[in-house]
Amino acid sequence: MEPRAFLTQSRVLVVAGKGGVGKTTVTAALARLAADSGLKVLVVALDDSGALPSLFGADSSFSYDEQVVYESGAGSVVARVLTPDDALVEYLMDHGLKRVAKRLVQSGVLDVVATAIPGIREILVLGKVKQIERAGEYDLVLLDAPATGHAVRFLTSASGLLDAARGGPLRSQASDVIEMLHDPGRCQVLLVALPEETPVNELIETAYRFEDEVGVLLGPVVVNSCYEQLEGLSSEVGAAAALAGEELEAPVQAALGEAAAFRLGRQELQSAQLKRLKTELPLPELRLPHLFVAELGPEEVARLAAAIGSAVQGLDASELAAATRRAI
Ligand SMILES: Nc1ncnc2c1ncn2[C@@H]1O[C@H](COP(=O)(O)OP(=O)(O)O)[C@@H](O)[C@H]1O
Ligand SMILES: [Mg+2]
Repeated sequence: MEPRAFLTQSRVLVVAGKGGVGKTTVTAALARLAADSGLKVLVVALDDSGALPSLFGADSSFSYDEQVVYESGAGSVVARVLTPDDALVEYLMDHGLKRVAKRLVQSGVLDVVATAIPGIREILVLGKVKQIERAGEYDLVLLDAPATGHAVRFLTSASGLLDAARGGPLRSQASDVIEMLHDPGRCQVLLVALPEETPVNELIETAYRFEDEVGVLLGPVVVNSCYEQLEGLSSEVGAAAALAGEELEAPVQAALGEAAAFRLGRQELQSAQLKRLKTELPLPELRLPHLFVAELGPEEVARLAAAIGSAVQGLDASELAAATRRAI
């Protein structure tokens, strides 16, 4: 499948997964790939922008104001932060309450309201995302979601509120959000995981929760930080060196032997987990390589974007369609 076709299947892509698995990194790489495919992309960071600025080579953290962070021919990436407070101010301003809006938020009234009406923060943010999606200014809106447990709660908040609010603007906001979440042509969730035991367990469990509780379509699973399979790791180091015409000192030989054993163990663990994931979660996969660098920046984002691009090329459109049918 062509990356552009893949990335325009739905206008909102929520990137979710356990903390530290690479959600922000994958969000940046997807944004880059989409912009390189000629799309206008908006990246929305919830709460704070985390590693996003450094992934785009920006020197300060992102804010409420939209900021162009990458341009490529017809495509571009714009980034912004969207907090519940921001969303509330905007909501009040849109509803003719401009003068009180800022003061209300500064006075901490949102905290009081949020305690009284669970789900209101999430609805304000998702309502804003829905408004951006509807406005159609961007071809793709990428949401760097909170860690999984929170993300499920985040997305189910709309139904909770719908049950609680009998009428009024909040109820219609909630039902609009639910409509967006349930429409695979408008919104999908991409789950990110690492090929390790606990993250795979959590991924399998939450995948079902997203489908059952939120009713949102799950796109392919992004398996991040996969180690490339190296051959010959079980060879005896001394013999392998001799074969290559090298003579190694004993400490070097021992260190290499240890490194090879470590990598072999890691590879075996990884293949076992990848196999388990395949049998227990029938979703297409996009595998991304582990990059051996101290800190990821725009260059690594470009490499990961290219890796997503070629993994997407290998995706079978009919397999994706089958996943779509199952989820709805
Ligand atoms: N493919 C990768 N190769 C190497 N390091 C990675 C890769 N993906 C993410 N990382 C690193 O892992 C850490 C967590 O990534 P991040 O995207 O911030 O995760 P999350 O947003 O899920 O918390 C960061 O230090 C990041 O640089
Ligand atoms: Mg993050």
